[in-house]
Amino acid sequence: MRIPFIAGNWKMNTTVGEAEKLVKEMVIPLDAIGGIEKVLCPPFVSLLSVKKIIQGFDVGLGAQNMYFELKGAYTGEISPLMLGELCEYVILGHSERRLYFGEVDDLINRKVRASLDNGLKPILCVGEKPDEKEEGRTEEVIGRQLRGALSGIEPTVKLTVAYEPVWAIGTGKAASGEQATVTVDFIREVVAGLWNREVASGVRVLYGGSVTASNVGEFVASSGIDGALIGGASLRSEEFVSIVSRTADLKGAR
Ligand code: PGA
Repeated sequence: MRIPFIAGNWKMNTTVGEAEKLVKEMVIPLDAIGGIEKVLCPPFVSLLSVKKIIQGFDVGLGAQNMYFELKGAYTGEISPLMLGELCEYVILGHSERRLYFGEVDDLINRKVRASLDNGLKPILCVGEKPDEKEEGRTEEVIGRQLRGALSGIEPTVKLTVAYEPVWAIGTGKAASGEQATVTVDFIREVVAGLWNREVASGVRVLYGGSVTASNVGEFVASSGIDGALIGGASLRSEEFVSIVSRTADLKGAR
């Protein structure tokens, strides 16, 4: 049984004050929606403040990135040990990290390993770029990203994979429910091939890319899609709450 899952990726938005305001707006309505996991991923500098506000509520916390070393002379980086005290999840391999910060599969693999070794649950993002989609290379690209990121990693249902086609992120042009379903099923097949079918059937796979309250139903109606990773719409409290609520309803979670 996979528990439905909605995560909000706030990206590089909100000052500490703004993050506190945003989480205060949504924590009570989010807490009231049962049978579904909801996780907020604010910027690093707001993790502690947000953690204090969600304490005692049924809302989880995640970071947006992490370095793989535990400590040392890595100016500007954040380690799994630091995150371990603050949150449960960490987004890794987001396409914006790959695009703007040169992250490659090998680095992402080290991060995935370090997260799991230190008790964090990785949300691994994969997805094809627009030209790769046009060239019909979606499965080739995603297969490579998954094999790279999961190389040498012990099978675990602590992994969540987010399918985020790059052409759909922040563009208002979401994939169709059908497109997302085909690729999410492919992702679970690849994980089954790399690990085994039993673990793969327990690994949650999300869709991400221009998800809103009005289109989330298209994705979560699919039995293989366990929820969504929300960017822009997670910065609007009402919208985010209704995404969670619609997902819980459609998944029959409450
Ligand atoms: P978006 O971003 O919802 O703004 O398209 C999704 C993501 O990058 O996780």
